[in-house]
Amino acid sequence: MRHLPSSTAKGIVLAGGSGSRLYPLTAAFSKQLQPVYDKPMIFYPLSTLMMAGIKDIMIISTPQDTPVFERLLGDGSQLGISLSYAIQNEPRGIADAFLIAKNFIAESDVCLILGDNLFYGKLDFLRAALNNNRGATVFGYQVQDPSRYGVVEIDANGNVISIQEKPTKPLSNMAIPGLYVYNNSVCEIAASLTPSPRGELEITDVHKMYMERGLLDVIPLGRGIAWLDTGTPESLHDAGTFIHAIEKRQGLKIGCLEEVALHMQFLNTEQYIQTVTALPNSSYKDYCMSLVNQ
Ligand code: G1P
Repeated sequence: MRHLPSSTAKGIVLAGGSGSRLYPLTAAFSKQLQPVYDKPMIFYPLSTLMMAGIKDIMIISTPQDTPVFERLLGDGSQLGISLSYAIQNEPRGIADAFLIAKNFIAESDVCLILGDNLFYGKLDFLRAALNNNRGATVFGYQVQDPSRYGVVEIDANGNVISIQEKPTKPLSNMAIPGLYVYNNSVCEIAASLTPSPRGELEITDVHKMYMERGLLDVIPLGRGIAWLDTGTPESLHDAGTFIHAIEKRQGLKIGCLEEVALHMQFLNTEQYIQTVTALPNSSYKDYCMSLVNQ
C-alpha cells in the first residue's frame, strides 16, 4: 500500500466576511459558496487541507452562512474526516479565527486557509511546511499587483526583512497567500493583538510577532504552483475559467472532495462507493463512480 502523509495539525477554513466586492452575487449567500466552474468555492481550499493530510478541520463563517456550510458538508464522515463549525459574529479579521478556534486547536499546530484562496499544483511545499514548522510558516508568491495583499520582502538567504499589509508602495512583488502554518503559540499571540485602524485583528501582525521572535519562515512558491484568489468578479471568473480549462483538457477534476478522500485513503473503496452512491445523479457522480475501478 502507498504511504501517504497524514498530519496531526488541525485545519481551519475561514469563510467569513461580507464579500461586498462581489455584490450582488453575495447579497443572498457567501463568497465561499459561489461556484468556481463546477463546484462551490470552499471545495478547493478544503481539498488543499485534505491533500496535506489534515483530517480534523473547523469551518468558521458568518451567523447566516454557517448553517449553509453545514448543510453542504455535514460532519465530514462521508469523506473520512471530521468537520466542525464555528461562527464569527463580526468580520473581526483573520487572526480572530484563533480566538474562536482556541479550544478546537487545543495543543496542536494549526494550518489556516482562507476560503477564497485556490491552489493548484504539487502540494509538497505545504506538507514540508507542516513537517518542518518552527513557529510560523508562510508562503511567498510573485504577483503583478502586490498592494492587494500582505507583502513580504526576503534577503538572498530567505530571511524576512519586512512584512506589510496591503502597502501602497510595496517593497517587493511577493504576496503572502492565505495559507498559513503555525505552532500552538498562535492562540496566545492572537489574544495579545489590538485591532488595526480598520478594526480587524490582522494576520500580518501575527506574522510580525513571530518575526520578532525569529520564528517566521517564508517559503517562496515557484511558478509551478497556481495561486488564484476570487475576491472580485473578474478574479472569480478567471478562477472558474482556469479550473474549466484544466478539467476539460485532462478529464480529471480539481477539488473533488470524494476523490481526494479516496486518494488520501481517508475512505477505503467500500466506504467510497457508499459515499458516492448517495450523491444525486449528475456528471459529478458519474466522475466519482468512474474512479472506482481505476
Ligand atoms: C487577506 C490578508 C492578506 C493576504 C490575502 C490573501 O487579505 O489580509 O495578507 O495576502 O488575504 O488572499 P483580504 O482577503 O482580507 O483582502
